Amino acid sequence: MAGSKKQAGEQGSLVLPTHIGIIMDGNGRWAQKRFLPRSAGHRAGAQNFRTITRYCSKIGIKYLTVYAFSTENWSRPMEEVGALMRLFKEYLEEALRDFMDENIRVRFIGDVSAFPSELQELIQEVEEASAPKTGMVLNLAMNYGGRAEITRAAKAFAQDVAQGKAKPEDLTEEGFSRYLYTGGQPDPDLIIRPSGEERLSNFLLWQSAYAEFVYFDILWPDFKTKDLDQAIAIYSSRQRRFGGV
Ligand code: IPE
Ligand code: IPE
Ligand code: MG
Repeated sequence: MAGSKKQAGEQGSLVLPTHIGIIMDGNGRWAQKRFLPRSAGHRAGAQNFRTITRYCSKIGIKYLTVYAFSTENWSRPMEEVGALMRLFKEYLEEALRDFMDENIRVRFIGDVSAFPSELQELIQEVEEASAPKTGMVLNLAMNYGGRAEITRAAKAFAQDVAQGKAKPEDLTEEGFSRYLYTGGQPDPDLIIRPSGEERLSNFLLWQSAYAEFVYFDILWPDFKTKDLDQAIAIYSSRQRRFGGV
């Protein structure tokens, strides 16, 4: 990885991504290394999510999408899923206070109807309370899967066709993307995955078509603001061609 010591937001020459996606991975291994239960790793990861989110807002990132729970994560032991649900509830309550002060708008992407009703109520509360906010948009990907999102969009479009509201021959890529959870938002420019894994794991499949990927051999709870600076510096040094020359 090209190591640059540039500080994000400090140097005019740095190109800031408009939209960053983060796959918050490695909580379980972080805990395992410390002989702690996996839930302790999730707690440390959630704490780090707050730190990194506030930092992104501070340095002027406009959109941040974080992968918190995938459609595949339900396959984990019931105990772990339960611990995650409790943590989400706790952190959403805290986030409500925290992010409101920072003018952050919180949105949820994913099928939240599968979550316990208490959590769903909180999700709605957070979304409504933060809707008037004008700062960074934070998309929380919860029970999110890229394939599920595309399938859902296809169904919604088919329904519009059946109701005479849309015509198949008029569908464009841009038009289709409006049916996605992220409809109306710019695609991610930079996707960061800590933990050493080098895969998308069903994250923003459609939207990541031309995203720059940066992988880190650092577990998510250990991922610091300086690592985010490094990711941005790497992004800034890349040449994006979008198929051109
Ligand atoms: C990511 O950390 C958090 C969630 C998927 C909820 P993991 O729990 O996947 O951590 P590792 O990959 O097992 O270390
Ligand atoms: C991706 O991590 C999902 C989240 C970080 C929420 P996983 O740990 O679930 O992905 P795999 O299983 O390593 O691909
Ligand atoms: Mg993992």
